[in-house]
Amino acid sequence: MKIRAARREELVRLYEICLLTADVGDDASAIFSDSKALGDIWVGPYVLLEPDHAFVLAGENDEAIGYCIAARDTKTFQEKCDLIWWPGRQGEFEHPVESHRASWSRDEKLAYEIHHPTPSPTELLDLYPSQAHINLLPAARGLGLGRKIMEAMEDSLRAKGSHGLHLRVNPVNYNALDFYQALGYAIVMKIEHETIVAKAL
Ligand SMILES: CC(C)(COP(=O)(O)OP(=O)(O)OC[C@H]1O[C@@H](n2cnc3c(N)ncnc32)[C@H](O)[C@@H]1OP(=O)(O)O)[C@@H](O)C(=O)NCCC(=O)NCCS
Repeated sequence: MKIRAARREELVRLYEICLLTADVGDDASAIFSDSKALGDIWVGPYVLLEPDHAFVLAGENDEAIGYCIAARDTKTFQEKCDLIWWPGRQGEFEHPVESHRASWSRDEKLAYEIHHPTPSPTELLDLYPSQAHINLLPAARGLGLGRKIMEAMEDSLRAKGSHGLHLRVNPVNYNALDFYQALGYAIVMKIEHETIVAKAL
């Protein structure tokens, strides 16, 4: 297995990996109807708008079996997404009916997120301006490769002048939280549905 730059032509595969790891690290195919909305939220804009910090773990035939992607400056990245990423996506996903909020499906909750993306907490951005995501398929886990691809991503951010990084984690993803802790990240904030870990670079 090797670490290499992510390619825009493999976006469909990276969206698939996102779906296969979206249920607190497990396959979420039974929860979401497809990978499109998930990938549009958590993969697409990073690979397309921040290619310098998008890495893939490639296995046989050079096929991606995991990724680690990041945005160097979250504030600028969010502004860019508001301008050139979300408007197109919002045209593809219908806004769920507000009055049915209590019974929204998981797909409808994703559609809402596409129409109203949740920004990273502003108060974190001075110390930890960058943000990242990592998702590896089960066959790639437990081999030290998560650490390696995170280091490649961190090195790329450092080389472009970033001094800190945060990641937004599902509070019940204990495996991921332990992994981040092993890599020197600390919990810096707990908000509704999110635990945020961060590290100085
Ligand atoms: C979380 C994830 C990225 C970890 O990657 P990995 O390749 O399995 O981790 P590594 O083998 O590189 O482990 C790196 C270090 O973290 C530690 N670690 C990893 N998972 C751990 C766990 N569940 N509990 C305790 N420590 C853990 C390892 O012991 C290792 O420590 P060391 O380097 O000091 O010996 C991977 O399991 C994954 O993609 N999970 C599914 C998707 C996901 O949940 N992503 C995070 C979303 S926020």
